[in-house]
Amino acid sequence: SKVLVLNGPNLGRLGAREPLIYGSTTHADLVELCVGAGKELGLDVEVRQTDTEGVMIGWLHEAADEGIPVVLNGAAWTHYSIAIRDACSQLTSKLVEVHISNVHKREEFRHHSVISAVADGVIVGLGVDGYVLALRWLAGQR
Ligand code: DQA
Repeated sequence: SKVLVLNGPNLGRLGAREPLIYGSTTHADLVELCVGAGKELGLDVEVRQTDTEGVMIGWLHEAADEGIPVVLNGAAWTHYSIAIRDACSQLTSKLVEVHISNVHKREEFRHHSVISAVADGVIVGLGVDGYVLALRWLAGQR
């Protein structure tokens, strides 16, 4: 079954972006990791990244309409975008929120997520392994 892994702003720059915080894995590596893990779990995983909020909202609508489970790293939108949260609320399948870094040991403004209350679960601080763990959990659902 299909799963969408959706990455928000600046995550296309993984590997180059603040590697001490986000690690050296590039977004292309992350795609390979998720698609490969999906294959082993019997999931058809598609990974997308955008820096544009409206594009992300469109993808969430698509997931809602098609009943596709989502792994979402909303990046900075996590902390303030009610529009992204409202789109997440419409999802008809499971939602796992993932953050690469441990947002709770970083700046205060990263401690709150407007997404978490509408997610089934949250994985933070485990690096890109968090995506694989989220996929493993989704594979065990239904
Ligand atoms: C992030 C954490 C956010 O606070 C930040 O804005 C990001 C990435 C993470 O994966 O650790 O862009 O979502």
